[in-house]
Amino acid sequence: MASLWFSPPVALAPLEGVGGPSLLGAIARLGGVGLLCAPFLRVFSEPRGGGPRPLFSAGDFARLTRRHGSMDHSVQLLGEDPRRMARAAQILVDNGVEVVDLNFGCPSRQVTRKGAGAALLKSPPKIAAIVAAVREAVPVRVTAKIRLGLRDPAESQPIAAAIESAGAEAITVHARTLEQGYRPPAHWEWITRTVQALTIPVIGNGEIWTAEDARRMLLETDCAGVMIGRGALRNPWIFRQLEELLAGRPITSPDIVEYHRFLKDVVASLEDEVHTAAALPGRIKEVVNYLGALLNDRGVFRRKVLRARSLEEIRHHIANLDPHLEVMQDHRARSGATP
Ligand SMILES: Cc1cc2nc3c(=O)[nH]c(=O)nc-3n(C[C@H](O)[C@H](O)[C@H](O)COP(=O)(O)O)c2cc1C
Repeated sequence: MASLWFSPPVALAPLEGVGGPSLLGAIARLGGVGLLCAPFLRVFSEPRGGGPRPLFSAGDFARLTRRHGSMDHSVQLLGEDPRRMARAAQILVDNGVEVVDLNFGCPSRQVTRKGAGAALLKSPPKIAAIVAAVREAVPVRVTAKIRLGLRDPAESQPIAAAIESAGAEAITVHARTLEQGYRPPAHWEWITRTVQALTIPVIGNGEIWTAEDARRMLLETDCAGVMIGRGALRNPWIFRQLEELLAGRPITSPDIVEYHRFLKDVVASLEDEVHTAAALPGRIKEVVNYLGALLNDRGVFRRKVLRARSLEEIRHHIANLDPHLEVMQDHRARSGATP
Protein backbone atom coordinates (compact mmCIF):
# COMPACT_ATOMS: atom_id res chain seq x y z
CA MET A 1 0.00 0.00 0.00
CA ALA A 2 1.34 3.44 -0.95
CA SER A 3 1.83 5.77 1.99
CA LEU A 4 0.98 9.43 2.43
CA TRP A 5 3.49 12.27 2.60
CA PHE A 6 1.95 13.87 5.70
CA SER A 7 2.23 12.59 9.21
CA PRO A 8 0.26 11.50 11.13
CA PRO A 9 -1.79 10.27 8.14
CA VAL A 10 -4.91 11.88 9.52
CA ALA A 11 -6.73 14.75 7.83
CA LEU A 12 -9.24 17.30 9.05
CA ALA A 13 -11.97 17.30 6.40
CA PRO A 14 -12.98 20.36 4.42
CA LEU A 15 -16.12 21.70 6.10
CA GLU A 16 -17.55 24.73 4.34
CA GLY A 17 -19.61 27.10 6.38
CA VAL A 18 -19.31 25.63 9.87
CA GLY A 19 -17.34 27.97 12.06
CA GLY A 20 -15.10 28.96 9.16
CA PRO A 21 -11.33 28.81 9.14
CA SER A 22 -11.30 29.92 12.78
CA LEU A 23 -12.77 26.66 13.94
CA LEU A 24 -10.74 24.46 11.59
CA GLY A 25 -7.53 26.20 12.66
CA ALA A 26 -8.36 25.91 16.36
CA ILE A 27 -9.14 22.19 15.98
CA ALA A 28 -5.94 21.52 14.08
CA ARG A 29 -3.87 23.32 16.73
CA LEU A 30 -5.03 20.79 19.35
CA GLY A 31 -2.69 18.27 17.75
CA GLY A 32 -2.90 14.96 15.91
CA VAL A 33 -3.82 16.50 12.52
CA GLY A 34 -1.37 15.82 9.67
CA LEU A 35 -3.27 17.66 6.94
CA LEU A 36 -5.73 20.52 7.29
CA CYS A 37 -8.08 20.63 4.30
CA ALA A 38 -9.64 24.01 3.66
CA PRO A 39 -13.13 23.95 2.15
CA PHE A 40 -13.80 24.56 -1.52
CA LEU A 41 -13.04 27.68 -3.48
CA ARG A 42 -15.70 27.92 -6.19
CA VAL A 43 -14.11 28.42 -9.61
CA PHE A 44 -16.71 30.14 -11.77
CA SER A 45 -17.18 29.09 -15.37
CA GLU A 46 -17.02 31.51 -18.26
CA PRO A 47 -20.41 33.20 -18.68
CA ARG A 48 -22.15 32.27 -21.93
CA GLY A 49 -21.77 35.14 -24.35
CA GLY A 50 -20.79 37.57 -21.60
CA GLY A 51 -17.54 39.39 -20.90
CA PRO A 52 -14.72 38.14 -18.70
CA ARG A 53 -15.66 36.87 -15.26
CA PRO A 54 -13.34 36.59 -12.23
CA LEU A 55 -12.12 33.05 -11.59
CA PHE A 56 -13.27 33.17 -7.97
CA SER A 57 -14.30 35.52 -5.19
CA ALA A 58 -11.32 37.45 -3.82
CA GLY A 59 -12.80 37.32 -0.29
CA ASP A 60 -13.14 33.54 -0.39
CA PHE A 61 -9.61 33.24 -1.72
CA ALA A 62 -8.19 35.22 1.23
CA ARG A 63 -10.29 33.27 3.75
CA LEU A 64 -9.39 29.83 2.42
CA THR A 65 -5.69 30.30 1.85
CA ARG A 66 -4.99 31.58 5.37
CA ARG A 67 -2.58 29.23 7.15
CA HIS A 68 -3.18 27.72 10.59
CA GLY A 69 -0.13 26.28 12.31
CA SER A 70 2.67 24.30 10.74
CA MET A 71 0.80 21.23 9.51
CA ASP A 72 0.29 20.58 5.77
CA HIS A 73 -2.55 22.56 4.33
CA SER A 74 -4.59 21.86 1.22
CA VAL A 75 -6.98 24.16 -0.58
CA GLN A 76 -9.82 22.68 -2.58
CA LEU A 77 -11.06 23.83 -5.96
CA LEU A 78 -14.63 23.23 -7.09
CA GLY A 79 -15.47 23.75 -10.74
CA GLU A 80 -16.22 22.12 -14.05
CA ASP A 81 -13.96 23.84 -16.59
CA PRO A 82 -10.49 22.23 -16.80
CA ARG A 83 -8.81 25.36 -18.20
CA ARG A 84 -10.17 27.67 -15.50
CA MET A 85 -9.46 25.11 -12.78
CA ALA A 86 -5.84 24.93 -13.97
CA ARG A 87 -5.54 28.73 -13.94
CA ALA A 88 -7.03 28.90 -10.44
CA ALA A 89 -4.56 26.23 -9.25
CA GLN A 90 -1.67 28.32 -10.59
CA ILE A 91 -2.88 31.32 -8.61
CA LEU A 92 -3.14 29.20 -5.46
CA VAL A 93 0.39 27.95 -5.93
CA ASP A 94 1.70 31.46 -6.66
CA ASN A 95 0.30 32.33 -3.24
CA GLY A 96 2.12 29.56 -1.41
CA VAL A 97 -0.44 26.71 -1.45
CA GLU A 98 1.39 23.39 -1.52
CA VAL A 99 -1.50 20.93 -2.00
CA VAL A 100 -4.38 21.48 -4.42
CA ASP A 101 -7.40 19.25 -3.82
CA LEU A 102 -10.19 18.84 -6.38
CA ASN A 103 -13.82 18.49 -5.33
CA PHE A 104 -15.83 15.76 -7.04
CA GLY A 105 -18.34 15.21 -4.27
CA CYS A 106 -20.27 18.38 -3.39
CA PRO A 107 -23.97 17.42 -3.42
CA SER A 108 -25.44 20.94 -3.33
CA ARG A 109 -28.07 21.45 -6.07
CA GLN A 110 -26.68 24.89 -6.73
CA VAL A 111 -23.35 23.29 -7.64
CA THR A 112 -24.50 20.09 -9.41
CA ARG A 113 -26.94 22.07 -11.59
CA LYS A 114 -23.90 23.73 -13.14
CA GLY A 115 -22.23 20.36 -13.74
CA ALA A 116 -19.65 20.71 -10.92
CA GLY A 117 -18.98 18.76 -7.70
CA ALA A 118 -20.78 15.43 -7.48
CA ALA A 119 -22.39 15.96 -10.91
CA LEU A 120 -18.99 15.17 -12.44
CA LEU A 121 -19.16 11.65 -10.98
CA LYS A 122 -21.24 10.59 -13.95
CA SER A 123 -18.35 11.29 -16.28
CA PRO A 124 -14.93 9.82 -15.40
CA PRO A 125 -13.42 11.32 -18.60
CA LYS A 126 -14.44 14.84 -17.51
CA ILE A 127 -12.94 14.22 -14.07
CA ALA A 128 -9.75 12.95 -15.70
CA ALA A 129 -9.58 16.06 -17.91
CA ILE A 130 -9.76 18.35 -14.85
CA VAL A 131 -7.17 16.35 -12.87
CA ALA A 132 -4.81 16.22 -15.86
CA ALA A 133 -5.15 19.95 -16.62
CA VAL A 134 -4.44 20.93 -13.01
CA ARG A 135 -1.64 18.35 -12.71
CA GLU A 136 0.04 19.82 -15.77
CA ALA A 137 -0.39 23.41 -14.62
CA VAL A 138 1.20 23.21 -11.16
CA PRO A 139 4.34 21.68 -9.67
CA VAL A 140 2.73 20.81 -6.32
CA ARG A 141 0.73 17.82 -5.05
CA VAL A 142 -2.70 17.44 -6.64
CA THR A 143 -5.30 15.30 -4.87
CA ALA A 144 -8.98 14.53 -5.48
CA LYS A 145 -11.94 13.90 -3.21
CA ILE A 146 -14.86 11.81 -4.45
CA ARG A 147 -18.10 10.24 -3.37
CA LEU A 148 -18.79 6.66 -4.46
CA GLY A 149 -20.87 7.70 -7.48
CA LEU A 150 -24.32 9.06 -8.19
CA ARG A 151 -26.35 6.04 -7.05
CA ASP A 152 -24.38 2.82 -7.27
CA PRO A 153 -21.14 2.52 -5.21
CA ALA A 154 -19.60 0.43 -8.01
CA GLU A 155 -19.44 3.65 -10.07
CA SER A 156 -16.52 4.61 -7.83
CA GLN A 157 -14.13 2.21 -9.51
CA PRO A 158 -13.87 3.78 -12.99
CA ILE A 159 -13.86 7.22 -11.33
CA ALA A 160 -10.95 6.31 -9.04
CA ALA A 161 -9.05 4.69 -11.92
CA ALA A 162 -9.50 7.84 -14.04
CA ILE A 163 -8.16 10.01 -11.22
CA GLU A 164 -5.09 7.82 -10.75
CA SER A 165 -4.34 7.69 -14.49
CA ALA A 166 -4.64 11.47 -14.76
CA GLY A 167 -1.80 11.85 -12.25
CA ALA A 168 -3.33 12.59 -8.84
CA GLU A 169 -1.03 12.10 -5.86
CA ALA A 170 -3.75 10.68 -3.57
CA ILE A 171 -7.51 10.24 -3.47
CA THR A 172 -10.00 10.71 -0.65
CA VAL A 173 -13.04 8.43 -0.80
CA HIS A 174 -16.11 9.70 1.06
CA ALA A 175 -17.83 6.33 1.21
CA ARG A 176 -21.32 7.44 0.22
CA THR A 177 -23.11 8.07 -3.07
CA LEU A 178 -24.56 11.43 -4.07
CA GLU A 179 -28.06 10.02 -3.65
CA GLN A 180 -27.27 9.13 -0.03
CA GLY A 181 -26.55 12.73 0.95
CA TYR A 182 -25.20 12.46 4.51
CA ARG A 183 -27.35 9.48 5.51
CA PRO A 184 -25.61 6.49 7.05
CA PRO A 185 -24.25 3.96 6.45
CA ALA A 186 -20.93 4.85 4.88
CA HIS A 187 -19.90 1.90 2.67
CA TRP A 188 -16.38 1.33 3.92
CA GLU A 189 -16.10 -1.85 1.83
CA TRP A 190 -15.77 0.41 -1.23
CA ILE A 191 -12.81 2.12 0.39
CA THR A 192 -11.24 -1.34 0.65
CA ARG A 193 -11.96 -2.06 -3.02
CA THR A 194 -10.44 1.26 -4.06
CA VAL A 195 -7.32 0.57 -1.99
CA GLN A 196 -7.01 -2.80 -3.72
CA ALA A 197 -7.50 -1.35 -7.21
CA LEU A 198 -5.13 1.65 -7.06
CA THR A 199 -1.45 2.19 -6.45
CA ILE A 200 -1.79 5.79 -5.13
CA PRO A 201 -2.65 6.24 -1.43
CA VAL A 202 -6.32 6.23 -0.51
CA ILE A 203 -7.69 8.34 2.36
CA GLY A 204 -10.86 6.88 3.84
CA ASN A 205 -13.69 9.17 4.92
CA GLY A 206 -17.21 8.85 6.27
CA GLU A 207 -18.84 8.17 9.64
CA ILE A 208 -15.79 8.34 11.88
CA TRP A 209 -17.21 9.57 15.18
CA THR A 210 -14.64 8.25 17.68
CA ALA A 211 -10.91 7.51 17.70
CA GLU A 212 -11.86 3.83 17.81
CA ASP A 213 -13.90 4.23 14.58
CA ALA A 214 -10.83 5.74 12.90
CA ARG A 215 -8.61 2.86 13.99
CA ARG A 216 -11.24 0.40 12.76
CA MET A 217 -11.35 2.08 9.34
CA LEU A 218 -7.54 1.90 9.06
CA LEU A 219 -7.55 -1.79 9.98
CA GLU A 220 -10.62 -2.89 8.05
CA THR A 221 -9.97 -1.06 4.78
CA ASP A 222 -6.16 -0.90 4.77
CA CYS A 223 -6.43 2.76 3.69
CA ALA A 224 -3.28 4.89 3.93
CA GLY A 225 -4.96 7.53 6.04
CA VAL A 226 -8.27 8.76 7.38
CA MET A 227 -10.17 12.04 7.08
CA ILE A 228 -12.53 13.16 9.82
CA GLY A 229 -15.29 15.75 9.37
CA ARG A 230 -18.36 16.06 11.57
CA GLY A 231 -16.79 13.85 14.26
CA ALA A 232 -14.14 16.56 14.73
CA LEU A 233 -16.76 19.28 15.10
CA ARG A 234 -18.39 17.36 17.93
CA ASN A 235 -15.11 16.27 19.48
CA PRO A 236 -12.12 18.37 18.36
CA TRP A 237 -9.86 16.20 20.58
CA ILE A 238 -10.56 13.11 18.41
CA PHE A 239 -7.22 13.52 16.58
CA ARG A 240 -5.20 13.63 19.78
CA GLN A 241 -7.17 10.63 21.05
CA LEU A 242 -6.43 8.69 17.85
CA GLU A 243 -2.74 9.40 18.32
CA GLU A 244 -2.99 8.04 21.88
CA LEU A 245 -4.92 4.98 20.73
CA LEU A 246 -2.46 4.12 17.93
CA ALA A 247 0.47 4.54 20.33
CA GLY A 248 -1.18 2.10 22.76
CA ARG A 249 -1.73 4.78 25.41
CA PRO A 250 -4.99 5.30 27.29
CA ILE A 251 -7.33 7.79 25.63
CA THR A 252 -7.64 11.07 27.50
CA SER A 253 -10.37 13.71 27.40
CA PRO A 254 -9.91 17.41 27.97
CA ASP A 255 -11.00 18.74 31.34
CA ILE A 256 -13.53 21.53 31.54
CA VAL A 257 -10.75 24.13 31.77
CA GLU A 258 -9.24 23.05 28.46
CA TYR A 259 -12.69 22.76 26.89
CA HIS A 260 -13.60 26.26 28.04
CA ARG A 261 -10.29 27.68 26.76
CA PHE A 262 -10.88 26.08 23.36
CA LEU A 263 -14.41 27.48 23.13
CA LYS A 264 -13.27 30.98 24.08
CA ASP A 265 -10.40 30.74 21.58
CA VAL A 266 -12.81 29.83 18.77
CA VAL A 267 -15.24 32.60 19.68
CA ALA A 268 -12.40 35.15 19.80
CA SER A 269 -11.18 34.16 16.32
CA LEU A 270 -14.73 34.21 15.00
CA GLU A 271 -15.06 37.76 16.29
CA ASP A 272 -11.97 38.66 14.23
CA GLU A 273 -13.16 36.78 11.18
CA VAL A 274 -16.84 37.71 10.99
CA HIS A 275 -17.10 41.30 9.93
CA THR A 276 -20.85 41.70 10.13
CA ALA A 277 -21.88 41.84 13.78
CA ALA A 278 -25.35 40.57 12.88
CA ALA A 279 -23.87 37.29 11.61
CA LEU A 280 -21.80 36.56 14.71
CA PRO A 281 -24.46 35.05 17.03
CA GLY A 282 -25.46 32.54 14.33
CA ARG A 283 -21.86 31.51 13.71
CA ILE A 284 -21.19 31.00 17.44
CA LYS A 285 -24.40 29.00 17.78
CA GLU A 286 -23.32 26.73 14.90
CA VAL A 287 -20.10 25.93 16.73
CA VAL A 288 -21.78 25.37 20.10
CA ASN A 289 -24.43 23.23 18.45
CA TYR A 290 -21.72 20.68 17.63
CA LEU A 291 -19.31 21.24 20.50
CA GLY A 292 -21.99 21.28 23.19
CA ALA A 293 -22.53 17.57 22.54
CA LEU A 294 -19.35 16.73 24.42
CA LEU A 295 -20.54 18.10 27.77
CA ASN A 296 -22.14 15.67 30.18
CA ASP A 297 -24.95 18.09 31.06
CA ARG A 298 -27.94 16.66 29.16
CA GLY A 299 -27.58 19.39 26.55
CA VAL A 300 -28.28 22.24 29.01
CA PHE A 301 -25.40 24.51 27.95
CA ARG A 302 -26.08 23.92 24.27
CA ARG A 303 -29.77 24.77 24.64
CA LYS A 304 -29.01 27.93 26.60
CA VAL A 305 -26.71 29.22 23.86
CA LEU A 306 -28.99 28.17 21.01
CA ARG A 307 -31.94 29.96 22.62
CA ALA A 308 -30.02 33.15 23.44
CA ARG A 309 -31.48 36.26 21.85
CA SER A 310 -28.40 38.45 21.69
CA LEU A 311 -24.64 38.33 21.41
CA GLU A 312 -24.38 39.60 24.99
CA GLU A 313 -26.51 36.72 26.23
CA ILE A 314 -24.37 34.20 24.34
CA ARG A 315 -21.20 35.76 25.77
CA HIS A 316 -22.71 35.59 29.25
CA HIS A 317 -23.49 31.85 28.95
CA ILE A 318 -20.00 31.09 27.62
CA ALA A 319 -18.27 33.16 30.33
CA ASN A 320 -20.32 31.39 32.99
CA LEU A 321 -19.89 27.82 31.80
CA ASP A 322 -20.22 25.60 34.87
CA PRO A 323 -16.60 24.77 35.92
CA HIS A 324 -17.75 21.49 37.50
CA LEU A 325 -19.04 19.91 34.30
CA GLU A 326 -17.52 16.72 32.97
CA VAL A 327 -16.26 16.59 29.37
CA MET A 328 -17.03 13.21 27.83
CA GLN A 329 -14.51 11.14 25.92
CA ASP A 330 -16.71 11.27 22.85
CA HIS A 331 -20.13 12.66 22.14
CA ARG A 332 -21.74 9.22 22.15
CA ALA A 333 -20.35 8.32 25.57
CA ARG A 334 -23.73 8.92 27.21
CA SER A 335 -26.60 7.45 25.20
CA GLY A 336 -29.06 10.03 23.97
CA ALA A 337 -26.60 12.88 24.44
CA THR A 338 -27.02 14.16 20.90
CA PRO A 339 -29.55 13.73 18.15
C1 LIG B 1 -21.10 21.38 6.82
C2 LIG B 1 -20.28 20.56 5.88
C3 LIG B 1 -19.49 21.19 4.92
C4 LIG B 1 -18.72 20.45 4.02
N1 LIG B 1 -17.91 21.09 3.11
C5 LIG B 1 -17.15 20.35 2.25
C6 LIG B 1 -16.26 20.98 1.32
O1 LIG B 1 -16.10 22.19 1.27
N2 LIG B 1 -15.55 20.16 0.49
C7 LIG B 1 -15.67 18.79 0.53
O2 LIG B 1 -15.00 18.09 -0.24
N3 LIG B 1 -16.47 18.18 1.41
C8 LIG B 1 -17.21 18.92 2.26
N4 LIG B 1 -18.01 18.28 3.17
C9 LIG B 1 -17.97 16.81 3.28
C10 LIG B 1 -16.96 16.40 4.37
O3 LIG B 1 -15.65 16.85 4.04
C11 LIG B 1 -16.93 14.87 4.57
O4 LIG B 1 -16.59 14.26 3.34
C12 LIG B 1 -18.28 14.33 5.02
O5 LIG B 1 -18.81 15.11 6.07
C13 LIG B 1 -18.14 12.88 5.51
O6 LIG B 1 -17.21 12.77 6.55
P1 LIG B 1 -17.66 12.68 8.12
O7 LIG B 1 -18.64 11.53 8.22
O8 LIG B 1 -16.38 12.44 8.86
O9 LIG B 1 -18.33 13.97 8.44
C14 LIG B 1 -18.78 19.02 4.06
C15 LIG B 1 -19.58 18.39 5.02
C16 LIG B 1 -20.33 19.14 5.93
C17 LIG B 1 -21.17 18.42 6.96
